[in-house]
Amino acid sequence: MNLFVTGSEGQFGTALRNTVVRKSMNNCIFLSKTDLDITNYAEVREYFKNKSVKGAVIINCAAYTDVEKAESEPEKAFKVNSQGVKNLAEFCRKSGIKFIHISTDFVFNGLKKGLYDESDIPDPVSIYGKSKAEGEKAVLENPENCLIIRTSWLYSTTHNTFLNKIIGRSKSGTPLKVVEDETGSPTYAVDLAEALIKICEKISQIGNFKTAVYHYCNTGSVSRYEYAKKIIEFSKAAVEVIAIKSNELSMKAKRPANSSLDNSKITSDFNLEIRNWDEALKEAVEKINEQ
Ligand SMILES: NC(=O)c1ccc[n+]([C@@H]2O[C@H](COP(=O)([O-])OP(=O)(O)OC[C@H]3O[C@@H](n4cnc5c(N)ncnc54)[C@H](OP(=O)(O)O)[C@@H]3O)[C@@H](O)[C@H]2O)c1
Repeated sequence: MNLFVTGSEGQFGTALRNTVVRKSMNNCIFLSKTDLDITNYAEVREYFKNKSVKGAVIINCAAYTDVEKAESEPEKAFKVNSQGVKNLAEFCRKSGIKFIHISTDFVFNGLKKGLYDESDIPDPVSIYGKSKAEGEKAVLENPENCLIIRTSWLYSTTHNTFLNKIIGRSKSGTPLKVVEDETGSPTYAVDLAEALIKICEKISQIGNFKTAVYHYCNTGSVSRYEYAKKIIEFSKAAVEVIAIKSNELSMKAKRPANSSLDNSKITSDFNLEIRNWDEALKEAVEKINEQ
């Protein structure tokens, strides 16, 4: 398989790289922002000019992901999450490359009771969510050979995410205040990376396919408060977790109250086995404890 990964230094790009190394896969090229700035179409075209792209797949992990900061610099968020994605999707169409784009649960408004499936209509409530929804629209303009994979509450042991922050803060012994009115599906980047490699292998072996949207998360749904409590339980830290309401925090960006995803379509279409969120979390916490 001929695979290119953009935004490779980020959390998910790193998880993909580690998976590729673990599987001793060849022909996988990881492109940091310095190697390839997706917002510059000429740079994208130039980078691939003399590369063999026959049967290639590009996975776009490049994104502007600072949800809070996006509220004060929307043009930067839209440049990467919308224009950059449009550049890649267009380039892939013109070059016969298959394209996988990672998107987010934050395209939803959070008002649904229950799990969001792929038929639910995006209605973002933050600048970050709006910029990602625009990026999705740009991908959907290409009727063939693109997959949008929305994921949620992504965490890893390699980058500073909710998981690492909770473990770090627990060390002070001061009670942790965590919101109980935000519900979602935590997703271990390692599990998503394994799944994406399987998906890439499958789509690189088939001919043209219809562009589609999928949801991938670890199975289940939990409040941030319950999620933090599980992290503390698994890490055996002796610290109290206190439930608070999101309006007690002075956040600029609005978050969806519920953005739990339904992963059944990707599970059946790609024959995946997706473990529960707490099983994956236990493994990640154990890994951090060993470090
Ligand atoms: N993290 C989550 O909780 C979460 C949840 C749902 C969905 N997602 C989605 O999952 C994907 C991966 O997220 P992540 O957690 O891996 O994010 P991340 O750690 O912030 O990684 C994003 C990477 O993209 C790079 N980048 C930014 N602008 C770029 C540009 N113009 N050209 C090329 N690269 C650029 C960043 O580089 P710099 O850091 O140097 O700017 C960074 O290395 C994103 O699409 C995100 O929207 C994330």
